[in-house]
This record gives sequence, C-alpha cells and structure tokens, in this order.
Amino acid sequence: MSWKATTCLAIASVLAFAPPKSSAPASRTDADDSLFTPPLLKNVSTAPRTVEVNIVAAPARLSLVPGKSTEVYAYNGQVPGPTLEVHEGDKVIIHFLNKLPEATTIHWHGIHLPAKQDGSPFDPIPPGKSHDYTFTVFPGTAGTFWYHPHLDQRTGFQIEKGLYGAFIVRPAEDPLSGIPEKLLILSDNRFQPDGSIDLPKRESPAGEVDEVNGREGNVLFVNGRVLPTIRIRSGEVQRWRIVNASAARVYKLGITGQTLLHVGTDGGLFERPIEVKDITLANSERVELLVRGTGAPGSSAALTMLPYDRYVPQTRPDDWRALHDLLKLKYSDEAPLPPVAIPQTLRHIPVLDTTKSTATRYISLSQGLINGKMMDMNRIDVTVPLGATEIWEIENIVGMDHPFHLHGFQFQVIDRNGVPEPFRSWKDVVNVPKHETVRFIVRYDDFPGKWMFHCHILDHEDHGMMGILEIKPRKRGS
Ligand code: C2O
Ligand code: CU
Ligand code: CU
Repeated sequence: MSWKATTCLAIASVLAFAPPKSSAPASRTDADDSLFTPPLLKNVSTAPRTVEVNIVAAPARLSLVPGKSTEVYAYNGQVPGPTLEVHEGDKVIIHFLNKLPEATTIHWHGIHLPAKQDGSPFDPIPPGKSHDYTFTVFPGTAGTFWYHPHLDQRTGFQIEKGLYGAFIVRPAEDPLSGIPEKLLILSDNRFQPDGSIDLPKRESPAGEVDEVNGREGNVLFVNGRVLPTIRIRSGEVQRWRIVNASAARVYKLGITGQTLLHVGTDGGLFERPIEVKDITLANSERVELLVRGTGAPGSSAALTMLPYDRYVPQTRPDDWRALHDLLKLKYSDEAPLPPVAIPQTLRHIPVLDTTKSTATRYISLSQGLINGKMMDMNRIDVTVPLGATEIWEIENIVGMDHPFHLHGFQFQVIDRNGVPEPFRSWKDVVNVPKHETVRFIVRYDDFPGKWMFHCHILDHEDHGMMGILEIKPRKRGS
C-alpha cells in the first residue's frame, strides 16, 4: 500500500479509534540520585586514551512499569543501555555481540567517524554474530550523543523494544566543570494489559495512526523510570544533559516559575548561555541546560511537558493539550547555597562561511517521502566531492513536523523560515515544522562513503523517508 493510501485509510479509521488517554501508571517517586548518573560501559582497556567496551544486545525480561514484567530487547541487560563515556581524542573500540533473534546494527548518532563504523543499514550484523566498531573521537566534538540500532525498516521496532543508550564525549577542559551533572534520557512507550510492549500491526487502526503520527506511548520515562525525583538544594546549579530517545514524541519542556539556561545542543556547548522560558526537543535531539535552584528549601517543582502541536489534525491525539509532569524536583531542607558563578563564555565555535558554499541542495519533505521518493538502498540521492561545503535547504511541504537528521557530519543552521539563527551551534538533527523551511551549512571535509539522511520519526524513516548521500574522494591531481 502506498503511503498516501495508508494515510487516507488511517484518517478514516481514526474516527473509530480513540487514542488511549494518557494515564501513567502509579509512579515510583524515590529520589534516587544514582538514577541520573546511570551506569557507564566499563572500559576494559589499560592503554592510554583508549576506551574499549563490550556491548551485547539480547532479549530480556524487565519490569518497565511497576508490577508488570515486559519482554524487551536490551543492551547489556538494561533499558536504557549503559552510557558510553569517552574523551575527545580517545580511540574507541566497541566489541558488539548480537544475541537478538534478528539482524541489527549500532549507530553512533551524531558522531563524526568513518562511514564503515557508522552502523548504518548498509552493514547489518546477523543474529549470533559479533562485530567490532572502532573510531577515534575528534578534538572539538565534545557533546551529548546516543547510540541505537539502524537496521533497514526495523529501527523503530528495535528502539521501541528497548535498544538505546547515551554517548557522552567530554572535552579536555570543560568550562562547566564543577557543576553537578545529571543525564536524562526521555522516552515513551505503550503497553498491553499483560505488560508486553504494544507494537500494533501496520494494517491495524492503531498501526495506521502510528504510521502517520509516528508511534507515541502514554507512559513517559526518564531513564527508564516513570516520574522520578531529582534532588536539588536551594541556590544550587545543575547541568542537565537531555536526550530525546522517543520514536516520535516532541518534548516542549519547562519548569514552572523559572527560566532555564540553554547551554548546548546536539554537537555540544554553545558559545554562551541563552536564557529561555521553555525548550523544545524533537526526537533524537539533545540539549544541555543549566537548572538553577531558585526554589525555597523544602519546596518542590516539576519538569513538565507542555503542549506542542506537531500533528496533522486528523490524527492529533485528543489530549495533546494536556500537561504531563516528567520529573519531580525536590528541594532539600538545607539553607540556600551562595550564588554560583556561571561562565559567560563557554567555547568558540568556528563559522562555516556561506560564501564558501559550492552547492545548494534542495530537499522537500512530504508525508513519507523525501524529494518525492521512497528510500532505495541501491540509489544514491546526492553525490558530493570530498571537501565540499554545501547549503542544504529543507522544505517541509506538508502539515506535520519532520525532524531532519544527517549522519556523520555536524552542521550549522543558517535560518528557519528566513529568520537568521540567532546564535551558532553544531547540530545533526533539526526539526522542520509544518510548511516551514530550514537552511543549514555543512562541510564534508573527510570520510568518503555513503551516508544516510532521514526523518527521525522512526515510523517515517522505516517506511522509506530516507535518502543516501555519497561523498566521493577527489581524484589524484584534481
Ligand atoms: Cu539516530 Cu539515522 O539516526
Ligand atoms: Cu544518526
Ligand atoms: Cu517524518
């Protein structure tokens, strides 16, 4: 069935299908500080500047929602998987074993590495097989990334079964060192009454809504936990790294009664902090925030998901306007800490000069298609010479948002709907809202090979909303 036919069917069938009301199961509200510094993958190397880890993907049975046990796919038995933490310049060796009943890959989302190490759909690891990924992390690329499977047409299924984890690259010198740090991996899921993950058939009414909207779940997780509690002391400043590992959900986040300092995005820190009321995080995007403990000792607050309308009206959930608390913020009874000095300069970000651009690529996003086409593993959509600097103009020609992701290379957003981006940053995914256009600039200075670009709504990606970029090495002497 073509995408268009499916969409019409979905719109018709949604009349008879009421999306489940968001009602999170009874929450565990333990203030578990270790929850926000989740376990790291153990470095088994003794060599300097080398991180060598073991990852096994395997089926497991875990309790994701209180009182139920769920059949999942897990990295090293955990959902989310353990965090991979490295420093700029480190050599990284990942010994991966696939114990799943199906092929998979591990994609290092946002990392600048050789195409062969990217874990793209071109390099599946069959069930029962192992594979080593090796790469060296570039200087200047510190930031918050994540890892997840990327098998052709199965990425959504495997991530929704539990395969995702954070990947933190630390700089040699961190301007925010000394500020306590928390990691928040956001995800959502849906469950059957028996505790199994609700993954409807594509042809079912729910499956058809998922195919249009991207699959959303009514249970909202932070680091695999429902509504956990972060403790903070009055006056304290905390650095939060947030990863949106959801299949499709966009999180507009705020803390009532206070502003946030936005200090970084996908490819690391900004040049300086930016004060915001709330922040919108499309799926697969990351942010770094400084949260200032402006509340009184003993008080509490919440990190809340605010309404964000990314949908076509026909499949928009009935309760999209509802607010949902994701996380509780609980102030200790201790006296306020003296004010913390927050650096006003974080780092320098080199400018990608638009006058050096050698080509402009136009990319249209429609429902399920990129430039009017479905993904074909045997077709190259864009060919560029190594060393090129290009402007990509991404136009969303339909009435729902599509977050656009490019593998392997961080880019700089130039403008959104003609409005110049107010500050410079490195990004690998940019949400392109309904009927809007985003332009970015990117330089392909190394790593020839084939790279994916796609909508990061996993249902869209799996159903073919993806293309292939090939970077060709220059011929000698040219
Ligand atoms: Cu998160 Cu193609 O990747
Ligand atoms: Cu990626
Ligand atoms: Cu999309």
